Amino acid sequence: MLASVATFAIEGIDSHEVTVEVDVRRGLPSFALVGLPDAGVREARERVRAALLNSDLEFPLQRLTANLAPANLRKAGPSFDLALAVAVLAASGQVPPESLASTAVCGELSLGGALRAVHGTIAVAAGARRGGYERLLVPVENGPEAALVEGLEVIGVPTLERLVALLRDQWHPASAAAAAGVSSSNDRLDLADVRGQDDAKRALEIAAAGGHNVLMVGPPGAGKTMLARRIGGILPPPTFEEAVEITRIHSVAGLSDGRLVAQRPFRAPHHTISAAGLIGGGSTPRPGEVTLAHRGVLFLDELPEFPRAALEGLREPLEEGRVEITRGQRTIGFPAAVMLVGACNPCPCAHPRGECTCGPHEKARYHRRLSGPLLDRIDLICRVDAARPLELVAEAGERSESDAIRARVVAARERQHHRLAGSSVLCNGEMDARQTRRHVPLDKRLRARMLEGHVSTEMSARGHDRVLRLARTIADLDARERVCAEDIDEALGYRMSGAWRTAA
Ligand SMILES: Nc1ncnc2c1ncn2[C@@H]1O[C@H](COP(=O)(O)OP(=O)(O)OP(=O)(O)O)[C@@H](O)[C@H]1O
Ligand SMILES: [Mg+2]
Ligand SMILES: [Zn+2]
Repeated sequence: MLASVATFAIEGIDSHEVTVEVDVRRGLPSFALVGLPDAGVREARERVRAALLNSDLEFPLQRLTANLAPANLRKAGPSFDLALAVAVLAASGQVPPESLASTAVCGELSLGGALRAVHGTIAVAAGARRGGYERLLVPVENGPEAALVEGLEVIGVPTLERLVALLRDQWHPASAAAAAGVSSSNDRLDLADVRGQDDAKRALEIAAAGGHNVLMVGPPGAGKTMLARRIGGILPPPTFEEAVEITRIHSVAGLSDGRLVAQRPFRAPHHTISAAGLIGGGSTPRPGEVTLAHRGVLFLDELPEFPRAALEGLREPLEEGRVEITRGQRTIGFPAAVMLVGACNPCPCAHPRGECTCGPHEKARYHRRLSGPLLDRIDLICRVDAARPLELVAEAGERSESDAIRARVVAARERQHHRLAGSSVLCNGEMDARQTRRHVPLDKRLRARMLEGHVSTEMSARGHDRVLRLARTIADLDARERVCAEDIDEALGYRMSGAWRTAA
């Protein structure tokens, strides 16, 4: 007898349908598995056999052939166990085949017959809905996550024995409820903890309001790392769709705790990370830090210390908001829309101004580590000088500075959504040259101002656009539809030459 069961294989952060067919016929007892299974899938045979026997079910002592189709798809990991077990049960007449109509299954089995949680169930559920399935059976722990996908009945099942009861119409569980959001308000860091640094805070507010990449340059101990770790608190909370997107990535990467991520990610990889770790890669491509930071902040502390290859690899995601990894014939795309926040010292010795011991060659070499194309994607470069003693000893200010800033950021973003509605761009930082020209019209006065800026700072054409994008955000924070000369002046102040090249 032949039976087939639908399940899904994860690729990137998407899933592809896989049909598990099992044929049972008379002959010497054997269990063959074909269809490009990796070692983990081959081990599934042993788990399925033990799980069936330990659940008081029968493992047919006949010739079993299982096929995982399509054969050209790479299948890795233990999540095919359940489909295989169910196909064996159906092919040997232990569950009615019609109970499997428009049903997909996904899960790992323990030897004792319990269903074990797997990674990436949101992606599986999305695939099941796309494939037209009405019901998805998953391990209990994965139920809430899979149920985030609407238009599909998700049932969390604890054991193989329960699953058989369900398929035999002897057990009628309620469908799984969607995961609730995780509130993270208790461990939130506030900008009020950082004394002084009003200029830097203003720069971060602008960066958050327009989704601009930002680089902070300053001496050790000035508070750069402290400031960066507080950016999450001034960004708008993710929308529900964004939260599902973030959860989906974290689920595929095995970072999910089964709840909805209600907070933008903040990823701060160390500078010893490899290019593959930052961008993504591996023989079965896995998301890199830039994808784990999708819709949130990628913080690269000591930016010039990162390997050249890793920084070069960032150019594509910063431009396109996604990463493409090619493996053999297939190209797998990972989302990677991040706000890049960098921090560094003005020179390699990092002594305060006046006491620098670096030679001109050392300095030039340090500055060259950040290539032009990467710097080109950084709209805002700001100096962070050591806080003044008077500010450090002053009494603590506003308890929540971050909440006030976030309110302004949210209002500024709403103006941008409105203006950019209909395009794929969400904020000023993502505008290309054409959109920049369209949304930041220059009158005679502004044109003169830009011209002065060009003369005094040797701006490139890209630098020109960068100033305009930033000026647009500064006007949005002030709830003005027209960009004025003061906005341009402030934006010119964040030019790269102002902080990075002449910093030391
Ligand atoms: N403006 C500030 N207000 C309050 N505390 C500060 C401030 N600046 C620095 N500190 C204190 O100094 C410590 C070091 O700050 P931080 O790590 O942010 O410096 P940094 O600029 O990142 O230095 P480095 O270049 O060495 O990485 C902080 O943990 C904090 O205790
Ligand atoms: Mg630091
Ligand atoms: Zn120096």
